[in-house]
Amino acid sequence: MEHQNLEYEVIIDSPGRINLIGEHIDYNGGYVLPAAIDKKITLKFKKNNSNFCKIHSSTFKSSFEIDLDNLERSETEWQNYILGVVYHIDIIKPGVIKGFDCTIETKLPLGSGVSSSAALECGIAKGVNELFEIGLSDLQLITLSRDAEHTFVGTKCGIMDQFAVVKGKKDHLLLLNCDTLSHDLIKAEFSPYIILLLNTNVSHNLASSEYNVRRDECQTALEAIQLKYPEVKNLTDVKPKVIKEFKKVLPKKIYNRALFVSKENRRTLKAVKFLKNKNLKKFGKCMYGSHKGLKNQYEVSCKELDFLVNITKDLPYVLGSRMMGGGFGGCTINIVHQDHVEDLIQSSSWAYKKEFDIDLTPIVTTISDGVSRI
Ligand code: GLA
Repeated sequence: MEHQNLEYEVIIDSPGRINLIGEHIDYNGGYVLPAAIDKKITLKFKKNNSNFCKIHSSTFKSSFEIDLDNLERSETEWQNYILGVVYHIDIIKPGVIKGFDCTIETKLPLGSGVSSSAALECGIAKGVNELFEIGLSDLQLITLSRDAEHTFVGTKCGIMDQFAVVKGKKDHLLLLNCDTLSHDLIKAEFSPYIILLLNTNVSHNLASSEYNVRRDECQTALEAIQLKYPEVKNLTDVKPKVIKEFKKVLPKKIYNRALFVSKENRRTLKAVKFLKNKNLKKFGKCMYGSHKGLKNQYEVSCKELDFLVNITKDLPYVLGSRMMGGGFGGCTINIVHQDHVEDLIQSSSWAYKKEFDIDLTPIVTTISDGVSRI
């Protein structure tokens, strides 16, 4: 195995991400609190002196070729994450990418809300950048990976996932201002509690279309508010009190979306204060508050996620629980006392199986560095 690796010129580890709080906030210009995790995709690269990129995924047990003279979208979704990145690097630095071979092996659960997509995009971007010594900055890697998702995959995602995957730092959360892209590192001091993800193993394919709908709904709310307050730049800047002035003007759904966004942004900043003051109990309460809003006002949860959050509510050893990521399936994120992790895994797996006849996948997670060359 070792000697096979020697053939590769560049090996990259690209992590998934979690988000403690601040959901559906990035594309509304507010604050989010993500981190990179210890579950990763490994990508190995070597030049092949041709005009083709040969990509092999051991996870999908499939391969495909990219013709560098003809970069077009594919019918196969996962290929578009890679095609999109190659395309956007080629726009920034035309002609610098030559043919290469790449093998991809993932330990990240797909479609589970830990952003295997950003891990793949940023892993390809970082690997190609290193292989051909292109000299792209971290910020360029982040934004071009996001652009790849917009243009080739069609999800109009925000910047949070790519930012966390590239800028993640071991044992730290990133408090990211999604308007200015400045960030503070916050020590992730949860001990004696740990972070446990519970993967529902459902991923409703509504996810990407409804995601774009939410984005449009927020834009509609923002434009209506700007008619009265032209100085407002982002929906997250608007206080809940001001949003309430629009209760009669906005359709109910749009109003609910805007109110959620305004409150979630404030909740994120409050949660960070609690964390800094070591008030983990109140931090956990903010997570439950976030879930409630995502379920009732933003309507991106689902019955499987709600079930898992609900069963933790009366457990003294769980401080907080909520759905994580885009929604409509994927994982819940839970802050659980280290002595009771097994208790929670066993009781929730049993109850979940009984309710939905689906196996639950627990994922104990630690916070790790962002994408790196190994
Ligand atoms: C997905 C998107 C992110 C973000 C989250 C929700 O993960 O890729 O940009 O909007 O959903 O917070």
